[in-house]
Amino acid sequence: MTVAILGGTGIYNLPRIDVSEKKVSNEYGDAVIYEGQGDYSDVIFMTRHGADHSTPPHKVNYRANMKALKDHGVKRIMATYAVGSITTKYQVLDIAVLRDFLDFTSGREFSFFDSIERGIGHVEMSVPYCPVMSAKILELAGSHNLKAHDGATYVATNGPRFESPAEIKFYQKMGGDVVGMTGCPEVYLAGELGMVMAAVALPINLAAGLEEKITIHEGNIDQVRENMVRLMLGVLKNTSDADCHPPKLL
Ligand code: HPA
Repeated sequence: MTVAILGGTGIYNLPRIDVSEKKVSNEYGDAVIYEGQGDYSDVIFMTRHGADHSTPPHKVNYRANMKALKDHGVKRIMATYAVGSITTKYQVLDIAVLRDFLDFTSGREFSFFDSIERGIGHVEMSVPYCPVMSAKILELAGSHNLKAHDGATYVATNGPRFESPAEIKFYQKMGGDVVGMTGCPEVYLAGELGMVMAAVALPINLAAGLEEKITIHEGNIDQVRENMVRLMLGVLKNTSDADCHPPKLL
């Protein structure tokens, strides 16, 4: 079993776990992975924006990252996303378990199947996020001092700008719950490579128009993020590769 934790904004390491940094290159570009040591030797950590948060959402090399995980034997990924909440169901600092997405990104490298040489493939996204790992997130959240809500639809925008109030109203009407800048194409690139993904989103603000101006929550957020990492490790250790099935290529 080799599993990965893919940290979003604010998650730049695995707290109190030794890792060894490895810079890797593949046909899509460069990536950095952190291999867990000792009891965590089957865990790979990756931090999407870089350990110094130097890569903005629209510049993340999603293909190089996913290929690097695949090349290191990763079968299952637990990802985190910092988001704005566009409904009152998902309160700031509660966590949202993603079940679906709306993709409004553009101009990103969004597929491995982009040339004749690489072949033709259409990854199915009927169940984008693994139901088995998602159920485990809900089961274990309380024991990590986290309040989890199920059933979130993630709206992926290009960023790096925030949305306008009218855009948020539109996303609400479309059925979106939380909005972030990195969930796509990541989830379907993972699927194209036969990896299983589950994801938790952490609302750190109410989206544009829900309050007079956007206020990013700072307060006790580091503790919440650490709890999330522990939760993800718990989910990965308490589910198995055999339970989780990657999306099909049609
Ligand atoms: N919009 C888009 N991405 C975000 C937000 C938001 O309000 N908050 C955190 N990431």
